[in-house]
Amino acid sequence: MKICFVGTGYVGLISGTCFADLGNSVICVDNNKEKINCLRKGEVPFFEPGLSEKIIKNINSNRLTFSSDLSQSIIHSDFIFIAVGTPDKKDGSADLSSIDNVLETIISSLKFHKFTKQKLLITKSTVPVGTGKKIATLFKKNGISSKNIAVLSNPEFLREGSAIYDFFTPERIVIGGENADAIQRLKVQYETNLLHECPIITTNLETAELSKYTSNTFLATKISFINEVSNLCEKTGADIQCISKIMGLDKRIGKLFLQPGPGYGGSCFPKDVKALISVADENDVSMDIAKATQSINAKQKTIHLKHLYDYYNNDIKNKTIGILGISFKPNTDDIREAPSLEIIKDLLQKKCKIKVYDPEALSNLKKVFKEDATNIIYCQTLDDVSTDTDALILTTEWNMFRELDLDKIHDLMNVPLFIDLRLVYTTKTLTAHGFDCFCIGEPPIFNRNY
Ligand code: UGA
Repeated sequence: MKICFVGTGYVGLISGTCFADLGNSVICVDNNKEKINCLRKGEVPFFEPGLSEKIIKNINSNRLTFSSDLSQSIIHSDFIFIAVGTPDKKDGSADLSSIDNVLETIISSLKFHKFTKQKLLITKSTVPVGTGKKIATLFKKNGISSKNIAVLSNPEFLREGSAIYDFFTPERIVIGGENADAIQRLKVQYETNLLHECPIITTNLETAELSKYTSNTFLATKISFINEVSNLCEKTGADIQCISKIMGLDKRIGKLFLQPGPGYGGSCFPKDVKALISVADENDVSMDIAKATQSINAKQKTIHLKHLYDYYNNDIKNKTIGILGISFKPNTDDIREAPSLEIIKDLLQKKCKIKVYDPEALSNLKKVFKEDATNIIYCQTLDDVSTDTDALILTTEWNMFRELDLDKIHDLMNVPLFIDLRLVYTTKTLTAHGFDCFCIGEPPIFNRNY
């Protein structure tokens, strides 16, 4: 099968590469020529474990190619996956301008094309409910019948950091469309490609489109719920880890996404919660739970800085604060909507000096805080970030932070104050190593007085 992925962002590049790895002939297209040139050499524009190796392997076996010529690429493809970005606009709705541009080229290229076989146009980008229908209408208006191009929706559920694993072992595949034969063709493609058995749910376009937003919003809601509970645990002496476990053992609740932290970030949850609220508003439905999820998350990102400020009686100016972890979660260099950004902004506003350490995300952070170059020190080692600091804040649970040499860090710091926003440590462990500390869900243990 000849497959074309339009958009070499996270979803397009990973799915395209994995389809090639399964033996298909895949062409990945992007209008960014520089990016395409880098990809041809096997250079990946972001960090995702295992991706670079897979790209090189499939380029070398001639199954994976890259192009910036959309017209030519689609003409020769049977399946055209649209995987361009759908970022949020100021009003929260999804910005579909990239999709519109792609469709314009597709229409002008295929308007007078002699079809020998029906092409499938499949949206993998997360799009508002109703988009697929609009695309189908647009084709019709331009004289391209559904016999020649069938529009399908096939939302993607990959997680950054474990996207390749997720691609090969999906928990479900969703295919939405109006044409039973087209749905069947994509279904068979997955069935023959994936060895891992998983439910393939076929449905209409609207259901497939909306299911992606509702899945992400529900997960985000679980996180906001457990974050509020952890704030209550902090005050009452209840153990948040134990509560998550007790709740999670109930199959109706499920144990995942009950880990409290400094709020969810990334390119998906914040954008998709907003977009669901927006599309519901357009339909005169108020998504009150999603709205609460969003506002709880906004507060959660910096709520625990209160403890740091209390510790220093609000005399925080010129204190040096070390940040452990910048990316919105481990195993990625993505810092979009990362809680660390809000934390750093708050600290800078209070005139603190910042030291940061992250195994992958420092170069992305530099681009965001260009103006604050003098107040942020980018550290290359754990020793550097700890030395002479008045507090360390653990914001991302990279594995390397699970085995910190706490005694050494304690001695390197100016004031041994450790704030753990990811439940990597407990106050019991940290106090045993001589730290004053705050761990999410527990009351702060401050033995020193400032
Ligand atoms: C999310 C979904 O999990 C994927 O299924 C979906 O395909 C993807 O969005 C997308 O729409 O493309 P991702 O954004 O990569 O994936 O990250 P997650 O692993 O879901 O984590 C999101 C955020 O929630 C992170 O900031 C993480 O730290 C936070 N989180 C997650 C918690 O605070 N607690 C938890 O228990 C779990």
